[in-house]
Amino acid sequence: MRQTEGEKQAVTSGFSGRPGKNTFSYNGVIYTSTGKEVGRGTFGHVIPFKTEDKNAMRQFIAVKFENSKFENSPYKKTRVRIYKFGRDFKEEAQWYKTFYGFGEFLGDENNITTRHYMLIPYFEGIALDDKSLSMPDFDSLLFIFIKTLSAIHDMVHAKKAVHADLKLSNLIVDSTRSVFPVDFGATDYEGTSRGRNAITERKVFSHLAPELFGEGEVEMKTTQDNYSLGKLFEKLDKRFSASFFTDDKTQNEKLKRMQSVIAKLQAENPSDRMRIPEAIAELNACFCKVLHSLGQSTITAQTKKPEPEKKQPAKVAGRAAIQAQKMPVPPLSVPVMAIVFFVAPCSLPIRLCMIVGIAVASKLLANHLEEKYCQPKVSQFKPR
Ligand SMILES: Nc1ncnc2c1ncn2[C@@H]1O[C@H](COP(=O)(O)OP(=O)(O)O)[C@@H](O)[C@H]1O
Ligand SMILES: [Mg+2]
Repeated sequence: MRQTEGEKQAVTSGFSGRPGKNTFSYNGVIYTSTGKEVGRGTFGHVIPFKTEDKNAMRQFIAVKFENSKFENSPYKKTRVRIYKFGRDFKEEAQWYKTFYGFGEFLGDENNITTRHYMLIPYFEGIALDDKSLSMPDFDSLLFIFIKTLSAIHDMVHAKKAVHADLKLSNLIVDSTRSVFPVDFGATDYEGTSRGRNAITERKVFSHLAPELFGEGEVEMKTTQDNYSLGKLFEKLDKRFSASFFTDDKTQNEKLKRMQSVIAKLQAENPSDRMRIPEAIAELNACFCKVLHSLGQSTITAQTKKPEPEKKQPAKVAGRAAIQAQKMPVPPLSVPVMAIVFFVAPCSLPIRLCMIVGIAVASKLLANHLEEKYCQPKVSQFKPR
């Protein structure tokens, strides 16, 4: 891996203490092991460490511990633990720094008798191969694909690098459905040459592009990641999509369209492989059909002619203005009063008393109706 002078200088570890024990200090902040291993691969296992210091830049730091291998000791007749991947760990830590702005290698890369570590950001979530991963509907699956493609395109390929080991276990999804690529043990810059894997290994590393097997050297290209992305989407599709096929014709068409993107990403010939922006656009189009219909209903709701705003009583008018807003005497009471005045067979004072009675009664009725139907309910107001 190429490394600039500036990058070399940036790797200044403020670390003291071994994360192999339960605590360590990083830049003056004490981190304690959560004791929970969140993942294990061929080369290392990862345990998050936590600090109680609220002012710390990071509440969590993940530590990747190198796995040991047993080998026969040349001096003793016993088998000893050895740690061969110091240099690889150092390079991987640097990739974390390049992509995520944080990654520290710890240990002596030339010493194979002591463990190597790296401090990396902790992604609180689950790997895409986790059994507990759930996919409630088709759109969630589509969303994960788009997020994964964007993460690789914007983070890795934008830096002219190739991840080179994209598989479900190396992608973490968190509760906000953000996707974080991890494990940069095979990562390198585009155009770097490396030896091909033996043909016999193709079954074991089925997530790798076919041109990476055979003899001689091969140049690293981002299209090799596209192949692996197609493979891992295919696995998720097989795991979840069966339940998404319904009687809904549009939904099934979208599924087929998504499956054709998956197939195009993993075309055997690298130059036929779909490019990531194109794949994102195509998946977005499936996704947008749903959003589009949702969006339209929102637009309809918004373009509905707005009700004319009721004028609020001027503040200075106070109670009087509010009173003026109250319902007037119901209009029906006016003809009733007229009939009483002109037709009722009784003396004028009695007729006048009846009219006043009707007016008072209708006013009381109006106030009652207003209180009952026109006041906002307290539950409509949510305290801030
Ligand atoms: N920074 C991290 N935050 C959370 N989980 C991680 C992190 N890095 C790795 N993991 C989990 O640990 C597993 C092993 O780490 P990985 O770097 O892939 O090791 P290996 O190089 O041995 O494959 C991963 O598959 C992933 O599930
Ligand atoms: Mg891994």
